[in-house]
Amino acid sequence: MEDISSYVQKNKERFIGELKDLLKIPSVSADPVFSQDVLNTAEAVKENLLKAGCDRAEICDTPGYPIVYGEKSIDPDLPTVLVYGHYDVQPPDPMDLWESGPFDPVIKQTPGHPEGAIFARGACDDKGQMFMHVKALEYMVQSGTLPCNVKFMIEGEEEVGSASLEWFIERNQEKLKNDVILISDTGMISNTQPSITTGLRGLSYVEVEVTGPNRDLHSGLYGGAVANPINVLAGMIASLHDENNRITIPGFYDKVEEISPEERSEMAKAPFSLEQYKNALDIDDVYGEAGYTTNERSSIRPTLDVNGIWGGYTGEGAKTVIPSAAYAKISMRLVPDQDWEEICQLFKDHFESIAPKGVKVVVKPHHGGQAYVTPIDSIGYQAASKAYSDTFGITPIPQRSGGSIPIVSLFEKELKSKTILMGFGLNSDAIHSPNEHFGVFNYLKGIETIPLFYRHFTELFRSQENES
Ligand code: BES
Ligand code: MN
Ligand code: MN
Repeated sequence: MEDISSYVQKNKERFIGELKDLLKIPSVSADPVFSQDVLNTAEAVKENLLKAGCDRAEICDTPGYPIVYGEKSIDPDLPTVLVYGHYDVQPPDPMDLWESGPFDPVIKQTPGHPEGAIFARGACDDKGQMFMHVKALEYMVQSGTLPCNVKFMIEGEEEVGSASLEWFIERNQEKLKNDVILISDTGMISNTQPSITTGLRGLSYVEVEVTGPNRDLHSGLYGGAVANPINVLAGMIASLHDENNRITIPGFYDKVEEISPEERSEMAKAPFSLEQYKNALDIDDVYGEAGYTTNERSSIRPTLDVNGIWGGYTGEGAKTVIPSAAYAKISMRLVPDQDWEEICQLFKDHFESIAPKGVKVVVKPHHGGQAYVTPIDSIGYQAASKAYSDTFGITPIPQRSGGSIPIVSLFEKELKSKTILMGFGLNSDAIHSPNEHFGVFNYLKGIETIPLFYRHFTELFRSQENES
């Protein structure tokens, strides 16, 4: 039997070519212009699952974009791994900052990736990482080493809040039954220090609208006498943080899980260079909540950020105007045990209460999800840890991430199973940004590591069964 690393080396060019084909389809879920491309991508994922060795693969319709489901069952007495991923991608904007086309994948040399990286929207988030699982299945089927049953659930709405996923899970409990959920949609510390993501932040996303006069006004005739919605909105937003950069919404921190000093000192052991961090972003200093380190601020602490703000005149030249309305999109990253719907409500109540009389405020909740933490003593975590140790030669560090995959807590609630986050991306991969990329090393290493997870998981699962 051929071992995985020689299989990967031999098929490297094909693996890259097949991923490039997937990356060429612009599956932007946020923009209806791309709806046919999103559907075509679902079809391509299904074909790839069948080609890799699934017994069955289908496109499952939902109220939104379809979910691609696939499975290969070998023995009902063996455990089942459910792989989740997403085939949709973020919009490529701003287009002019891409050095090569977002849907024209190319391998280029870039710092930190001596073997080059594949540049395209979705290269890392999540087509490249999802496709590692498809190729890992291909190897296990080809070599006759698939040790357990496998199911795939690949969705097309992750980047817009996974609205149809809950709908789908509720209706397909039996079909989705599993012993562990495996996701590659996060990152690791570096190519020489792997890590396993043990936490994700929750999210509350809202849009606010501040309306003043019933029409745009001449800023000379009316300026100074009526509330300018942009001035007011800017002030309201500024008041949401105090001098210590803590969020001022009453009750916001009430349920925040405080991390023990022991766990904080454990976290602080992960390799991190503040100088490199600042250099990579070209900033003179970091910024955030007093009393916490940069790593803590971006993982175990909640945040509030404006993602976009608009209103008034933003075209060429100058126009003197007091706009009738101003808008902003605001996200709050949450930690255990904050509840995203409750936080939306706290935000709404507070934001409405601080508005001056001269304006009207509307707060519209968008979407959200709960935070997630997973224990490191589960057999899933142990299997992942062994798999990384096998392929990287060092034990991975458990690390909480600042990003959100809202469906992970939903899986636990609905399917009662734990999720293992085996991410192979790097923070420098520019996900959601222009020039997103995924290291060739990372892509191939992922394909090599995944089959080892299956092997270790099945062994640990069976020995656990024998004990009970
Ligand atoms: N894959 C990311 C989440 C992520 C990236 C987690 C890196 C940890 C490390 C996912 O596709 C994503 O972008 N999630 C959104 C939330 C979603 C509801 C739009 C996010 O975190 O902003
Ligand atoms: Mn993702
Ligand atoms: Mn994403």
